[in-house]
Amino acid sequence: MSLRAKLTTGTAAAASLLLLAGTAAAKQPGAPGIGDPYYPNAGNGGYDVSHYDIRLNYQPATDNLSGTTTILARSTQDLNRFNLDFVLKASSVRVNNKVASFTQADGELVVDPKGTLREGSDLTIVVTYSDVPSSRSLGGFTAWKRIPDGALAIDEPDIAPWWFPSNNHPTDKATFDVSVAVPDGVEVLSNGIFNGTTKQINGWTRWWWRSLKPQTTYLAFIAIGQFEIRRSTAPNGQPVINAYSERLGEDAGAAKASVERTSEVVEFLEEKFGPYPFEAQGGVVTPGIGFALENQTRSTYDPAFFRRGTNTYVVAHENAHQWFGDSVSVHGWKDIWLNEGFASYAEFLWSEHVGEGTAQENAEFIYDLYAADHPFWTVLPGDPGPENQFDGAVYDRGALAVHALRVAVGDEDFFSILKGWTAHKRYGNASVEEFIAFAEKVSGEQLDELFKTWLFTPSKPAAAPGRDGEF
Ligand code: ARG
Ligand code: ZN
Repeated sequence: MSLRAKLTTGTAAAASLLLLAGTAAAKQPGAPGIGDPYYPNAGNGGYDVSHYDIRLNYQPATDNLSGTTTILARSTQDLNRFNLDFVLKASSVRVNNKVASFTQADGELVVDPKGTLREGSDLTIVVTYSDVPSSRSLGGFTAWKRIPDGALAIDEPDIAPWWFPSNNHPTDKATFDVSVAVPDGVEVLSNGIFNGTTKQINGWTRWWWRSLKPQTTYLAFIAIGQFEIRRSTAPNGQPVINAYSERLGEDAGAAKASVERTSEVVEFLEEKFGPYPFEAQGGVVTPGIGFALENQTRSTYDPAFFRRGTNTYVVAHENAHQWFGDSVSVHGWKDIWLNEGFASYAEFLWSEHVGEGTAQENAEFIYDLYAADHPFWTVLPGDPGPENQFDGAVYDRGALAVHALRVAVGDEDFFSILKGWTAHKRYGNASVEEFIAFAEKVSGEQLDELFKTWLFTPSKPAAAPGRDGEF
């Protein structure tokens, strides 16, 4: 029954129900999750963040991380309470300059501001904290990584709660200022523009970084340790900052020979995807990550990628994510194919560019690699489930799906789809369904069957896309 229906019944019981409902309406807590079925606690309801100012101090010797994050946000409903995603121990919270009470459990910082925040209000949320991030786990997992010379805040889908309080979901993007003070002689890398270092009174140095474009929380990173930093200018005039751990050992040469080519890779990808969406370029290579990640403007790489020698494919993959993942971000984590399928396909394009095999040859190779009874074909790239979010099938079969599209619509429409999509959704969020609709609109073709075959069927498709005229 609607409130209006209750009102018109006119009975005493209905009136008191209405009164109760009215009281409840005045107290409107923001939801503890933003509504992502894969991660029900990810993000929060009731507000939208526009900027994070993260100002920290880090002592590598003890792993103590302390400081203040100031969040600029706007309430999207009346709020008597709201959540931030955070695992570190907070010591104080202020909302619009007034002290707020708060509790913390299970990765949620629950804030009770003084009074009710009206819908559409500007919020300034100041959270002060001091903790040892490596000592905090959530669901048995610690995303913060300590390394012998410092620490790394690099992970997907969750890293933010180990270093700053946030609305931790890709649908709430914001600009970032990140500064970290460390003992003199330690380096700090983060996203975007480098605003230099300043001497602190205590013999520490503060490093200043700024992301000028909307950025998701999982793509914000810090890498603290002993790094060789190389600065240059890309052909398009943008600043390039690369950093190499002093502990790369025998991988140092191959790592530099690969990552120093970042702006060449970006220049190539611009031809395929349209203008590079961000203000700076670069890469960071350090032991202790265990994977590579497309941190906005400055991807990060484990040196294992360069163990055999040069590897520009991983550079192409992570930089393709700057368009597919970082600028155009998933609407929900189920849409991960929009990131990994296209970044993996960029490796096919790069392979063709450097003369090491056409996209068609790469697609056939992957298709033939897995027999029909291989579990590879049971994972649906279009909705893999949280356990399989980074399964090889999301990457490899995901790339085959992109190639199947190319074969079906032809090169001209295919590259207009890619360029049109990255322009249309720039700095936004998107779902797999929206991509399919967009591809259909641009090509004028009905593509449901194709995407059902390549993204949503738990078995091996009958033929490799493009082989003997098949798609
Ligand atoms: N997006 C990253 C890549 O493309 C993968 C990150 C995997 N995350 C993880 N926690 N293993 O390579
Ligand atoms: Zn990837």
